[in-house]
Amino acid sequence: MTIQKILIYLFNKFDFGFDIEIKNFDNIKRIINSKYNKKIDISNFTINFNIDDVYINKKINNMLMQYGIVVIRDYYKNKNSINSIAFNINKFLKENKNSIVKKLISIAEIKSINNELKIVQREYYANNKKSSENNDEGMIEIFNVDKLSINILDTCNFINSDIILNLINNMGSNLKITNHNLYINESVNKTRYLHVDSLIPEFKVFTYLTDVTDRSYGPYSYVPFSHKNSLINMFNMFINWFFMRTYIVTTSTLCDNNRAIEIYGNIGDIIISDQRGIHGGVPQKVGRNRIVLVSTIK
Ligand SMILES: [Fe+2]
Repeated sequence: MTIQKILIYLFNKFDFGFDIEIKNFDNIKRIINSKYNKKIDISNFTINFNIDDVYINKKINNMLMQYGIVVIRDYYKNKNSINSIAFNINKFLKENKNSIVKKLISIAEIKSINNELKIVQREYYANNKKSSENNDEGMIEIFNVDKLSINILDTCNFINSDIILNLINNMGSNLKITNHNLYINESVNKTRYLHVDSLIPEFKVFTYLTDVTDRSYGPYSYVPFSHKNSLINMFNMFINWFFMRTYIVTTSTLCDNNRAIEIYGNIGDIIISDQRGIHGGVPQKVGRNRIVLVSTIK
């Protein structure tokens, strides 16, 4: 059992601690946030995918290790096939509208899904505790989308992608792709606060299947360098656990929102992100649609 699992277990099991305001931690916050105050933008961790570049894997790997995130432009060259994937997904959802379960979904429930196909529309984040946080209310998540009859992964040729597999092998021999989930966001304006997914190595590959060209589309956002600060992230979990009971334990309450960089992209771009780092979503404008394939590696 990992430290993170123990913490979450204890947090859910025992009810002690008390709520105090975030501003009581202002001094600690200032010190922590100064760590992320480097003047960098998305161009620092963006690379154009060129299969003929023999060093491409090394370059991607270096960026990922340094910043915790790398954006690979034009990873998929065939934009038409991605457009048709997005079209098919929207068609599928329209046809199956009535069978999609709207429900409260807890962390424990998400973790128990394993490898089965499941389609859920988020209603509210149901933790054991009453949480004041948003959790992507309205977002449709297709867990294990590769089990769906319209097989989008074949089209993307994702699983056989040499570059992704090489990257995984470089990062640690025990890491493998565990899930391919699809996030479908339409007018989702209550996105989750900045948080970490894990204190141990875990990566996600985000493939934008629709253009996310400005903040109105609800881009993924990330705090560069924060993946290297697992101790700070663990400290933040303790603070949440003891003092901020209305927050989910993995929420980065000590990190300012403005440290996160919004990751814009076009269809065919992919983002590889170290989930030990601080990340979150951005509220969408009403009427905006975003479809992202999210592949987890751990
Ligand atoms: Fe997350």
